[in-house]
Amino acid sequence: MAAAVRIHHHLSFLFLFLFFISFSCGTETDSLLHLKKSLTNSDRSLSSWIPNISPCSGTWLGVVCFDNTITGLHLSDLGLSGSIDVDALVEIRSLRTLSFINNSFSGPIPNFNKLGSIKSLLLTQNRFSGTIPTDFFSTLNSLKKLWLSGNNFSGEIPQSLTQLKLLKELHLEYNSFSGQIPNFNQDLKSLDLSNNKLQGAIPVSLARFGPNSFAGNEGLCGKPLEKTCGDDDGSSLFSLLSNVNEEKYDTSWATKVIVILVIAVVAAMIFLFVKRSRRGDGELRVVSRSRSNSTEEVLMVQVPSMRGGVGDKKKEGNKRGDIVMVNEERGVFGLQDLMKASAEVLGNGGLGSMYKAMMGTGLCVVVKRMREMNKIGKDVFDAEMRQFGRIRHRNIITPLAYHYRREEKLFITEYMPKGSLLYVLHGDRGTSHSELTWPTRLNIVKGIARGLKFLYSEFSTYDLPHGNLKSSNVLLTDDYEPLLSDYAFQPLINPKVSVQALFAFKSPDFVQNQKVSQKTDVYCLGVIILEIITGKFPSQYHSNGKGGTDVVQWAFTAISEGTEAELIDSELPNDANSRKNMLHLLHIGACCAESNPEQRLNMKEAVRRIEEVQV
Ligand SMILES: *[C@@H]1O[C@H](CO)[C@@H](O)[C@H](O)[C@H]1NC(C)=O
Ligand SMILES: *[C@@H]1O[C@H](CO)[C@@H](O)[C@H](O)[C@H]1NC(C)=O
Repeated sequence: MAAAVRIHHHLSFLFLFLFFISFSCGTETDSLLHLKKSLTNSDRSLSSWIPNISPCSGTWLGVVCFDNTITGLHLSDLGLSGSIDVDALVEIRSLRTLSFINNSFSGPIPNFNKLGSIKSLLLTQNRFSGTIPTDFFSTLNSLKKLWLSGNNFSGEIPQSLTQLKLLKELHLEYNSFSGQIPNFNQDLKSLDLSNNKLQGAIPVSLARFGPNSFAGNEGLCGKPLEKTCGDDDGSSLFSLLSNVNEEKYDTSWATKVIVILVIAVVAAMIFLFVKRSRRGDGELRVVSRSRSNSTEEVLMVQVPSMRGGVGDKKKEGNKRGDIVMVNEERGVFGLQDLMKASAEVLGNGGLGSMYKAMMGTGLCVVVKRMREMNKIGKDVFDAEMRQFGRIRHRNIITPLAYHYRREEKLFITEYMPKGSLLYVLHGDRGTSHSELTWPTRLNIVKGIARGLKFLYSEFSTYDLPHGNLKSSNVLLTDDYEPLLSDYAFQPLINPKVSVQALFAFKSPDFVQNQKVSQKTDVYCLGVIILEIITGKFPSQYHSNGKGGTDVVQWAFTAISEGTEAELIDSELPNDANSRKNMLHLLHIGACCAESNPEQRLNMKEAVRRIEEVQV
């Protein structure tokens, strides 16, 4: 009797097991059939894809299997088009290689960024077009090969590609990519950016690839191309900035006409003024007058009273004065030192482009070039910058200097080789990530909290004492001490731009109620805490809400279901005591990320609770 029961037991396990196997195979077959359905011209070219035969039987065209699991789809040269059903592909968990080379697909890039473990994505020779969102690749940390060549993609090369630490092959040739080449620091083996519309200096780190990798982009300069950037060696900050200048300030025909008119009016006024002065006071003197063969009269005017003062000041200015130092702890430098510095493009930080510049003195700085800061006048701007320059706090980065021009400002801070928390958390799951132990992560959260506490006293009257708190604005020192950057900018920025550029304006406070307050920074702090504990890239950082993990929603669901422990980054240790403290921090993060500001902690309380968390 007992034996019979046992056998029965075993049999039901066996059935369950078989059921599970057939079920899982079933879904993958279904997924492929869904994919086939989403493609046009597939009846003919994928006629071998039929139900009842396993995809791994060897008869399905283009299906590559290993050990009876599907690892690749190689669907080249099949004349396929239609809108690829990526959700069906997501179901095939073991899929690593996806090739649609030489088909007829068109339109924007499908949301392949849902395929988190894909290693090769080969879309060469199709008719895909449009801009690829800058953060598109941030979810594809396993990507090694990306071939997009021979399509019609436009816009900038997505910045998120620079964060893929495993990327080895990048082929973007024969598209319409424009803008500057981002700074690829990973160990690329093969790179082809030829025949696009790229501009500006080639980053120094890419000069090792031959000229063929960059040919056919008229606006590119610097090594390994023969065309130098301006008078410089192609990599100075000056050449980088002036390259962008030409692109941005390319004056249209209409502007040119206006400029000429204005010059004409001014010239006429000077002429009248000079005529009057010659009669009497002698303050202005015509030093030469020449007549061209037209009726135009060319005047050269000298203003004696300004000869000494402004002239000398201008000379002084060329040496140093155009840069205003607000913090001399790392030494004093001038605009010329900066412009001569060898530089690389770091990317776009939301508020403007960022450059890394290494000066002759060895000091390495980040130059942020900000265009949308005309909300206040020069004096107020200067006062604000000097207040930033006086900040001395272990967890706040103090700017070194600024450069003011009406149309743009340069904002200069020290360069941190380790980069940002975003980069360390999500950029490299292999090496540096393993250094993010629980004590380190807790210390980072505490450092951020202390920095915020300081900003809340220093800028206590501001709606947003920080305003742009997210992991890309938390820099890390060599010892993983966090430094807050990009703080207290909101009063300086044109309102329309703030909404796009500052993370506080992505909060529910603004999205739902068009209001921000000091509690908005607390929400941003909550997102960072959940990001640090889960190790996941928050979908909140994506401008379009696509990709990443909604860490806030995830945390609230888990808390209501009592399954919070599942949220903790699997790379964190499993001992019961630390786990308890991690959960404690996770709960604080959730209380900070409450979507209703009324129910959210205030900053003071949040900081107090964070300080209590133990290792
Ligand atoms: C591309 O695919 C078509 C079939 O759709 C084939 O005739 C053509 O030779 C292929 N081109 C290349 C370059 O392989
Ligand atoms: C590529 O896209 C541009 C617009 O971005 C369009 O004008 C052009 O015709 C397209 N070229 C091809 C070959 O489809």
